[in-house]
Amino acid sequence: MSRSKTSSKIEVRQSGIHGKGVYATRRIRKDSAIIEYTGERVSEDEANERYQDNPSTYLFMVDDDTFIDGLSGGNEARFINHSCEPNCVAYLEDDRVVIHALKNIQPGVELTYDYQLTDEGEGSDATPTDYTCRCGARRCTGTMKGREA
Ligand SMILES: C[S@@+](CC[C@H](N)C(=O)[O-])C[C@H]1O[C@@H](n2cnc3c(N)ncnc32)[C@H](O)[C@@H]1O
Ligand SMILES: [Zn+2]
Repeated sequence: MSRSKTSSKIEVRQSGIHGKGVYATRRIRKDSAIIEYTGERVSEDEANERYQDNPSTYLFMVDDDTFIDGLSGGNEARFINHSCEPNCVAYLEDDRVVIHALKNIQPGVELTYDYQLTDEGEGSDATPTDYTCRCGARRCTGTMKGREA
């Protein structure tokens, strides 16, 4: 199993959900901040251009015209997968996106948050075209889109 260098509480390795994922290496307490989703901040137009040049799913939509490109200066947070029954949540703190624990998380458990993808970006090429969810949760909705989408 491939592993990469990460902060002390988490590690990146192959996921049962998709590709690489992020796993707890220690117990993580409910409500604690785990990691900031870092990367270069770009406009929607710039995100679209980057996506066309190099399709990636590491573009976190902060608001209508701000994306964080996890491929440019990003950290392990970009590997956190989506789940319909997540144990984490992405909060906007001022202008930073920070992943927090929604519950106590035991070592070895994969970290997930609800991407709540919307159709809004569908005209934009900086969003994935396949929204099918494979989180495996008992109440999986089958899609990574949010209820409002
Ligand atoms: C930010 S990446 C997450 C890291 C990704 N697993 C990797 O190895 O690069 C987001 C992409 O991972 C995939 N993904 C994440 N959660 C998923 C899920 N629950 N079901 C299916 N694909 C998922 C989708 O392709 C999505 O666009
Ligand atoms: Zn699901």
